[in-house]
Order: sequence, then C-alpha cells, then structure tokens
Amino acid sequence: MGPRVLGRPYVRHDGALWCEGVPLEVIAAGAGTPAYVYSANALRERYRALDTALAGVPHRIHYSLKANSSRGLLQVLRDEGCHADVVSGGELVRAMRAGFAPSEIIFGGVGKSRAEIRAGLQAGVKLLNIESAAELDVVEDEARALGVRARIAFRVNPEVEVANAHAYIATGSRGHKFGIPWGDVLSVANRAIASKHLELAGLDMHVGSQLLSLDPYRDGVERLAGLARTLQKAGAPLRYLDAGGGLPARYGEEDAPDLELFASIIVPVATSLGLELIVEPGRFVVAESGALLTRVLYRKLSGGTDFVICDAGMTELLRPSHYDAYHAIEAVQPRGGQATVDVVGPICETGDFLARDRTMDDVQPGDLLAVHTTGAYGYAMSFTYNARPRAPEVLVDGSRWSVITRRETYDDLVRLETETLEWQEA
Ligand code: LLP
Repeated sequence: MGPRVLGRPYVRHDGALWCEGVPLEVIAAGAGTPAYVYSANALRERYRALDTALAGVPHRIHYSLKANSSRGLLQVLRDEGCHADVVSGGELVRAMRAGFAPSEIIFGGVGKSRAEIRAGLQAGVKLLNIESAAELDVVEDEARALGVRARIAFRVNPEVEVANAHAYIATGSRGHKFGIPWGDVLSVANRAIASKHLELAGLDMHVGSQLLSLDPYRDGVERLAGLARTLQKAGAPLRYLDAGGGLPARYGEEDAPDLELFASIIVPVATSLGLELIVEPGRFVVAESGALLTRVLYRKLSGGTDFVICDAGMTELLRPSHYDAYHAIEAVQPRGGQATVDVVGPICETGDFLARDRTMDDVQPGDLLAVHTTGAYGYAMSFTYNARPRAPEVLVDGSRWSVITRRETYDDLVRLETETLEWQEA
C-alpha cells in the first residue's frame, strides 16, 4: 500500500468537527439526527485520482450503485464523467433518473429476473453481465423476442484466493455463487459466439471487496487475459476488460490504496489485449466521504458494561453487527477524557451495536457523535425494523449543505399498506 494521498473531508476547527466548510453541529441542528452526511469534494477527489491513475489506457469508471445510489451523490459523480454499474431493475431506474444514459450503464447481478433482463435490453445498456449458462439462455431468448443483439460480458469466477476477507464479502473464489464457473466458461462462450442475438463484448471479474492487498487483482487479470486470448481466437468480438470493484477504504489506520500500483497491474493487461478497461468501484469512491451523525440519548452501566445508547443503530448502519466491521467514532465536540464503552442503538436486538469495547471520547447524553467511513453500504443497507423511519442524507459542498434525501415520515412507513382490503376469490 502506498502513501496517503487522499484527503480526509472531516476536519477540526477550534475543537469542533466539520465536514469541509460546514460544522457538523449545524447539520444536526438543521436536519436532525440520525443523519448521513457526505462530502462532495471527497467524491470528486477519489474519482479523479482513479481516473488519473488509469490514464494510460482507454478506460471507464463505472461506479457501483450498490454502495450508495442516492441521486444527489450520483449527480456529483456523473458531473465528473463517471459511469454506472447496476445490479437490479431498481438500480437501473435510479441510474437513469440520476441522468446516466443507458450507454453509460453496465448491468450485472447473479440473479437478474427475466423482467430485469428485458428492461436492460430495452433501455440499451452498454453491457449485460452474464453469470451463468442458464442466464445466457434467458438473455438470448429476450433479445430474440425484442429483435435486438444483446451486448454481453461474461462475469467469470477467476477462482482466486483473497486473504483476510470477511467471509460475507469474498466473492471470487471457487465455490462462490458469483460468476460463470471457471471450468464452464469456454463452452458457454462458444454458445454465445454462435448466437446471432448475442455479442460477447467483454470479460468481467470481481474478486472481492475491501482488498487491502492488490494481489488478487494480479492473479485475477492474469487468468482473465489468458481467457480473453482464447476467446478472441474463437471469434469473440471482445472490446472490454472489466476488473470489477474492490478497492479499499480507510476505516482505521489502513493506508489508502496505491492507485499507481493498481494501474500497473491492470493497465498493461488491457493494453496488450487491445481492450478498453472498465472498473466498478463502489466503496473506494464513497465510503470516506460519509459520516453518520447520531446523538447520545443515555449512558448506562449494566453488568460491568458501560453503554452509550444513541439514536442510530443497526437499522441505520448494519455493518458492525453484520460483518463485525470497525467504524471509527468520535465526539463532534469532545469534552475531554476517554472511556471504554459499547456504543449501541435503540433497537430491540442484542446485536444492535455500532461499536463494542471501544475506547473513545467520553460522552454524555445530548452529545453528537460522528461514525466515520459510512458513505458506502451505510444508507444503502439501512432498513426500517422497529418501524424506524430511515435517516435523511445531506450533501456538503464547500461551505454549503443540502438535504439530498429527506427523513422518512411515519406516513411513509405505512404508505404501501392496503387500507380497505380487496378480497379476491381463489
Ligand atoms: N462489482 C461487483 C460485481 C460487486 O459484486 C461489487 C460488490 C462491486 C463491484 C463493488 O465493490 P466495492 O468496490 O464496493 O468493493 N455490503 C458489503 C460489501 C458487499 C460488496 C458486494 N459486491 C460491505 O458493507 O462491506
């Protein structure tokens, strides 16, 4: 890993924590808590850093919407020239409503329904990523019905080992559900090459997420390169090599990923194959731009544990309880002193925590906390258990801030429920 070249958008002025040019207390007072905050300039900086690193080859950065698909944030990235990677019909609509042209969107996902595949073909997305032989049949069928030639890429499982990954975010090893199994790729490719409704235009892999070592990329693209040569000889009109997502964010003391090293691994491979390079980063682009603001409600000692009970919990940020993930937490206006505490939410689950056994700023009820590196897989994975309305999202740009997603209301929570039942006879 290389030098820390990327800036941190959360900085202290006279002891208080700000996002860019806006005090977090101002946002909490205006938008309430809990609330997500994102730095627009941190997004731009990361997009530009990656774009610059890849400058040696024709390339496209397709930001992976699954990390955070809020329109206000997508528009910042689109204005930079970023493209989009979606994995569902819902994300496809979100990308298009944020202004991405279909030709700027690639559509992946291990279980796309027939309706989703049709929607992708009708929109005319740049590439549909195929993850199985069975899915290829459905895509061919739908392309025939629509009278189009489907531009597809094969997402293959390169079957590389990723050290230290949490089991739930490892994706590119043998036996995972993702991608066309390595041993099946050639036979599936021959079917695609033979079909007049399919154009096999790309090869794609995604070896995992939060890749603190870049070695899996090296192993993966080497395998992909050999495959690409074989397929080119077999007549596949390949144009794209997609190295997937996976670049890491700094949750604690990790170094920023070495983008030059990353480029030195993948750019020469794309160049030697004569292919345009695609990358699908999610976390790297948005994680560090985000903080979750939460107020301390209570402090209580129970059975020897010192609990800080906040107004945000697993419904706002699932990562600590789902992946045992670490997120740095600090007081927006520290009072001085440290304490070792469990930071928990109000949800009726023992697994509802933001941090356990954490030594951090000593805090009291009413204090505001910032939970860091929560721009990726934070809001996007939030949910409404215990009938908790989802938090608002706020974008900061310089000294300005705006709500980009309003707080859910109690009316929103019941909006989908049928008031007068319309019984149907079976
Ligand atoms: N492309 C594909 C095919 C993917 O499956 C993923 C993530 C990405 C791109 C973007 O990966 P990234 O650059 O963000 O690592 N919810 C988990 C992460 C799940 C990632 C799933 N796939 C978490 O909170 O850590």
